[in-house]
Amino acid sequence: MSFFAYKDNALHAEDVPLSAIAEAVGTPVHVYSAAALRHAADAFRSALRTLPAARFAFAVKANPNSAVLRLLAGRGFGADIVSGGELRRALDSGMAPAGIVFSGVGKTDRELSDALDANIGQFNLELEEEGRVLSRLAYVRGRRAPAVLRVNPDVDAGTHAKISTGRRENKFGVSIADAADIYDRLGRLDGLHLHGLALHIGSQLSDLAPLEAAYRRVGELILELRARGHVITRVDLGGGLGIPYREEDHIPSLTDYAAMVARVTAQWNVGLTFEPGRIIAGLAGVLMTRVIWVKPGTAAPFVIVDAAMNDLARPAMYGAYHRFAAVQPSGETMVANLAGPVCETGDTFGTNQEIDRVARGDLAVFHATGAYGASMASSYNCRPLSPQVLVDGGRFEVVGERAIPTERAA
Ligand code: LLP
Repeated sequence: MSFFAYKDNALHAEDVPLSAIAEAVGTPVHVYSAAALRHAADAFRSALRTLPAARFAFAVKANPNSAVLRLLAGRGFGADIVSGGELRRALDSGMAPAGIVFSGVGKTDRELSDALDANIGQFNLELEEEGRVLSRLAYVRGRRAPAVLRVNPDVDAGTHAKISTGRRENKFGVSIADAADIYDRLGRLDGLHLHGLALHIGSQLSDLAPLEAAYRRVGELILELRARGHVITRVDLGGGLGIPYREEDHIPSLTDYAAMVARVTAQWNVGLTFEPGRIIAGLAGVLMTRVIWVKPGTAAPFVIVDAAMNDLARPAMYGAYHRFAAVQPSGETMVANLAGPVCETGDTFGTNQEIDRVARGDLAVFHATGAYGASMASSYNCRPLSPQVLVDGGRFEVVGERAIPTERAA
């Protein structure tokens, strides 16, 4: 189900023609669909609703826009955060502190303190020493910090190397082989309420098998920890489910995921937490751009658009594909190299790609940019951060301004 569809040969976001947004706000612009966000959020929750005491924490890094977070808070989502900035954003957007989970391999003492003072619901510990520091910070406040231990299950998630997190050589979590001993030591600290485990093996996963293998290892660890006398009440299963960037991409359904989770965790007797990011926001956004030039090339012409790697870093960083489509297609196609104006050859969205035929001045979109789109933007080449627009039915609102970080003259 897409909330970006053609009506009278003009691409719309819900009931709003994208050309109207381009006219009002200019390009490039990130456009989100509120209905698509609601649909994805509700689908995720409803697929997993039968699991015991399930909690849902949206991975803020995927899309930290306040309007998006507010909408998700209204759908029963908390937040999975990884920095003090994300903590502020989640709180300012109306996320309940109790629903906030703090992940991240390098939390500073300042960030841990601020999160404690905000009374967040869960700290995901990434190493033993972090647990000791958090315990001290909580103890001096007369508190026990609610915490779980993130384990690295040493499973290959089968995704892009830069977004794999669950192999032994990755920086995340404590080795599953050492986890029980570390848990014993952290479990004795006065400033922690250590009550479970967390894992996250990678992102844009297209196969459930590695997830299932990782979950099973955690299941064995739960048994081991209970045998040692620990009370385990919660396991955070992370995020990672992929979305179809190409029509032919085969992505496991939420139903299959939920069935796998139910099967693997049936005997765990814990509450489960999920940290989905991409699957909630990815398909709910497009990046709209205007063609600046169609420039002759050797094998194929260059279509130079006004969006660049600073607006959408995924192609340059991971070789990721985002479908390009004209806002008012002529029905003809062309083979082209798609590139932005930034002064790097890496500022390329596609090479020798068959696309809708476009000409100078035409509007087009890159699809599926709602997750890790605007959130990874930069102002490289002194290009402003692109505005963000949220469409809801027949209305749209600017929810992020076009802005360039300013510097003071000496
Ligand atoms: N939980 C933790 C601890 C994470 O590190 C992540 C993502 C998530 C949850 C959410 O994962 P998701 O459901 O979105 O797959 N910039 C990359 C993706 C990086 C993901 C980092 N961690 C990209 O554009 O593909």
